Amino acid sequence: MLSLSIIWFLSFWFFSQISLLSAQWIDYSDTGLATMTHYTLPSGYVASCGCTPSSTNYPTAALSQMAYGSSTNYGPGCGRCFNLTLLNPVIATPPFNPSVVKFIVVKVTDLCPLSQTGWCSGTTSKPNSAGAFLNFDLAYPSKAIPDDFFPSDEADFGVWNITYQSVPCLNDWAGSNNAVALGSVRSLGSGACCPAEPSLGNTSNICPSFSDQNGIPPDTSTNSSAALIMQWPVGMLIFLALLSNVM
Ligand SMILES: *[C@@H]1O[C@H](CO)[C@@H](O)[C@H](O)[C@H]1NC(C)=O
Ligand SMILES: *[C@@H]1O[C@H](CO)[C@@H](O)[C@H](O)[C@H]1NC(C)=O
Ligand SMILES: *[C@@H]1O[C@H](CO)[C@@H](O)[C@H](O)[C@H]1NC(C)=O
Ligand SMILES: *[C@@H]1O[C@H](CO)[C@@H](O)[C@H](O)[C@H]1NC(C)=O
Repeated sequence: MLSLSIIWFLSFWFFSQISLLSAQWIDYSDTGLATMTHYTLPSGYVASCGCTPSSTNYPTAALSQMAYGSSTNYGPGCGRCFNLTLLNPVIATPPFNPSVVKFIVVKVTDLCPLSQTGWCSGTTSKPNSAGAFLNFDLAYPSKAIPDDFFPSDEADFGVWNITYQSVPCLNDWAGSNNAVALGSVRSLGSGACCPAEPSLGNTSNICPSFSDQNGIPPDTSTNSSAALIMQWPVGMLIFLALLSNVM
C-alpha cells in the first residue's frame, strides 16, 4: 500500500512538473505593453536563432526568454516581426515624455536569457520591475537605426516602456526585400531556425522550442547565406544579451 501511494505521488509529481515546464512560456497577445533595452550585436554575426549574417543590416532584437520560448538556441519567437513604439523611459528624473512618436519594426533573431532581476526576468507569474512581461532587447547602435532613435537631448535612458504590435515580416520589416537577410544559415542545418515569415500555429514555418526538444525544425535555410559566415559562438551572444539585460 505504501509503495503504491509513493508511486502515485511520484507520478503525480512528475506530471505536475511536466505541465509546469510546458506551461511556463508566456502566451502573449499580438499587441501589448513591454519594455525595451538595447544591446551590442556585432554587425554580420549569427545570433541564437541562426538568422543570416545579413539580417544584422536591418533592425533586429533579442526577445526575453519566457516569450521567446526556449532557453537556448532557437524558439518560437525566432523570425517574428514586431512594430515597437516608444512610450516613455522607465527611469527618468524628472519623468520624460517625448514629443515625437518613435517606432521601429524589428525581427527577433536572438534570445535574451531569463534572469532573476533583469529586464528579461518576466515569467507567466511575475513581470519585470517596470511591470512588463516581455522585453525587447534592441540591437543598437545599428547602421539600420538612426542615431537619434531614442528621443532625448540629454540622456540615454536605457530602458523604455513601449507598445509592441505583431506585424507581417514580408510587408513591414526593412530587410524583407533582401533575400540574403532572410532565413537561416544553411550550413547550420537543423541547428538554426529563422523563418522569413513565421505564422503562429503553422508548424511548417514556426520554430519549435529547442530547449523543449520539440523535434526537427522546419528548413528555413537560405542558399545565399552560406557565402558570408563570421559566426560567433552563440554563447557569446547570449552573454552579450544577458549583460545588457542585467545592466
Ligand atoms: C508602427 O506603429 C506606429 C504607431 O505607433 C504607426 O504609426 C506605424 O504605422 C506602425 N507601423 C507598422 C508597419 O505597423
Ligand atoms: C512605465 O514605467 C514606469 C516606471 O517603472 C511605470 O510606473 C509605468 O507603469 C510604466 N508603464 C507605462 C505605460 O507608462
Ligand atoms: C503554413 O506555412 C507554409 C509555408 O509558409 C504554407 O505553404 C502553408 O500554406 C501554411 N499552412 C497554413 C494552414 O497556413
Ligand atoms: C538552393 O539549395 C538547394 C539545395 O541545396 C538547391 O537544390 C537549389 O538549387 C539552390 N537554389 C539556388 C538558387 O541556388
